[in-house]
Amino acid sequence: MTKKLIAYFSASGITEKIAKKIAELTDSDIYEIKPKVKYTAADLNWMDKNSRSSIEMSEYTSRPEIVDDNFSTDEYDTIFLGFPIWWYMAPTIVNTFLEKHDFSNKKIVVFATSGGSRLGNTIEKLRLCVSETAKFIDGGVLNGSPSQDALKEWYQNLKIS
Ligand SMILES: Cc1cc2nc3c(=O)[nH]c(=O)nc-3n(C[C@H](O)[C@H](O)[C@H](O)COP(=O)(O)O)c2cc1C
Repeated sequence: MTKKLIAYFSASGITEKIAKKIAELTDSDIYEIKPKVKYTAADLNWMDKNSRSSIEMSEYTSRPEIVDDNFSTDEYDTIFLGFPIWWYMAPTIVNTFLEKHDFSNKKIVVFATSGGSRLGNTIEKLRLCVSETAKFIDGGVLNGSPSQDALKEWYQNLKIS
C-alpha cells in the first residue's frame, strides 16, 4: 500500500489550486472536503465578529458538517492535508474531517495557504483529532502560486519514502 491522497478544504479556491498541482506532481488521488453548507462571502468576513467563520473559529470545539460520502482513508498510507489558515490555525471543518476518518498509522502531510501567517501550532491542535499512531509531517505554508518546479523541490525536501 503506497497510495497517496491529497485531501483539501478550500473556501475561495487558492488552496484548491495548489492541491491540484500537488496531485498532478505526485500522481495522487484528490479529495475535496466539502462543507454541507457552503461558505458565502459574508460567512468568510473575518472583520465581522458575528460571521459564520468568526463564530466557528471562536469556538474551537465547533465541528461544521461535511458532505457525507463513501470516502475512506483505507487505501492510502500518506495523506496530504491542505487548507487555508483561519485565525492562525486550521478551519475547524478540518477537525471534522480528521475525527470522522481513520488515520491510524498513516502519514499526514500538512500544507496551507494564508495571507502571510505561518502554521504556528496548527499541527499540535490537529494532532488531538486523530489516533496517536498518525505521523504528522510539516509541509508548511505554500503561498504565492509556487511553480511546478518549486513544488517538486518542496516535495523532495519532505523526504517521504
Ligand atoms: C475567516 C478567515 C480567516 C483568516 N485568517 C487568516 C490568518 O489568521 N492569517 C492569514 O495569514 N490569513 C488568514 N486568512 C486568509 C486565508 O488564509 C487566505 O486567503 C487563503 O489563501 C484562502 O484559501 P482558500 O482560497 O483555499 O480558502 C483568513 C481568511 C478567512 C476567510
